[in-house]
Amino acid sequence: MNAYIAGVGHHVPDKVLTNTDLEKMVDTSDEWIRTRSGIIERRVSEPDIPTSDLAILAAQRALKSAKISPKDLQMIIVATATPDMFFPSTACLVQAKLGARKIMSFDIGAGCSGWLYALSVAEGFIKKGYDNILVIGAEELTKITDYTDRSTCILLGDAAGAAILKRTDEDRGILSTYFAADGSYGDLLYMPAGGTRMPPSHESIDNKMHYLKMQGNEVFKVAVRAMYESAHEVLKKAHLKPGDVAFLIPHQANIRIIEATAKRLHIPMDRVGINLDRYGNTSAASIPISLDEAVQSGKIKKGDIICLVAFGAGFTWGGVLLRW
Ligand code: UT7
Repeated sequence: MNAYIAGVGHHVPDKVLTNTDLEKMVDTSDEWIRTRSGIIERRVSEPDIPTSDLAILAAQRALKSAKISPKDLQMIIVATATPDMFFPSTACLVQAKLGARKIMSFDIGAGCSGWLYALSVAEGFIKKGYDNILVIGAEELTKITDYTDRSTCILLGDAAGAAILKRTDEDRGILSTYFAADGSYGDLLYMPAGGTRMPPSHESIDNKMHYLKMQGNEVFKVAVRAMYESAHEVLKKAHLKPGDVAFLIPHQANIRIIEATAKRLHIPMDRVGINLDRYGNTSAASIPISLDEAVQSGKIKKGDIICLVAFGAGFTWGGVLLRW
């Protein structure tokens, strides 16, 4: 019994924040942002639109693409670091808004690797006999972004991507997975306040502790190693080589991380999914968006080997290898 992706969809808010806009907000330049990150613009959700609203729109497109209805779903998993609330989970909000049956629904928190972690968890349930699992990556990072911190505010954007995982007896779908985490790096990429370690207070707000903090250059070094390791491990498990990969979809944090990963794997950039130029770093949403774009543009065809790799807060990292 294999698990395969039967449909994909994504949604991004309409509002665009360009590098030129950011030049007016912090001491930066379009040239610095483009050359150091590869980002040109990103999307920003409206203040009254929560993460679950982006998730719903992506989910509806994925359901349409898989030609199933919300009533056919047997499980909903949402990967997010920016849920609507601590609880209920964003997945429960999605379940109700979609009009799905009373099915198991829960969130996964694994930073930018969240959607891949969720896909792997869903694969486990498919192997147990479940079918039609909705796996969403949805983020509103701009709502935890400090727009006075030039080292982070240029990177982050809002978006959602979704896929339907189905059961099959055919030789297709997920071939191998690999996951890892190292919590000793936690304080290099984190949001200090709002949880039990530093509950919200006037002081925590005054000290800007409810925003994402990152030591970018330290994160960068580990990210390059971890993304390569993830690709290497999933290929090894499936007895395949980088040359067998028709399309590589890496998490979209920085074009230099993506290029370094592709170079080490000897995969040319025209076989690599890129959307950070238009959407910035959308965390758990970046890979399903790229997958949807590649399917829609015909870059992925039936039978192709697709390698998905991610790295994020935790640190967490991992990969999923698929036969489309
Ligand atoms: O999503 C998963 C996890 N996230 C990542 O994987 C992100 C990984 N990190 C990165 O993408 C990069 O480290 C950044 C894009 C965040 C930063 O690029 P960098 O080349 O690592 O820059 P840096 O942090 O080493 O800073 C170099 C210089 C510093 O100035 P000094 O100290 O050399 O004078 C910064 O203050 O660039 C300065 N700088 C900026 N200058 C103009 C930092 N941000 C900006 C900015 N505009 N926006």
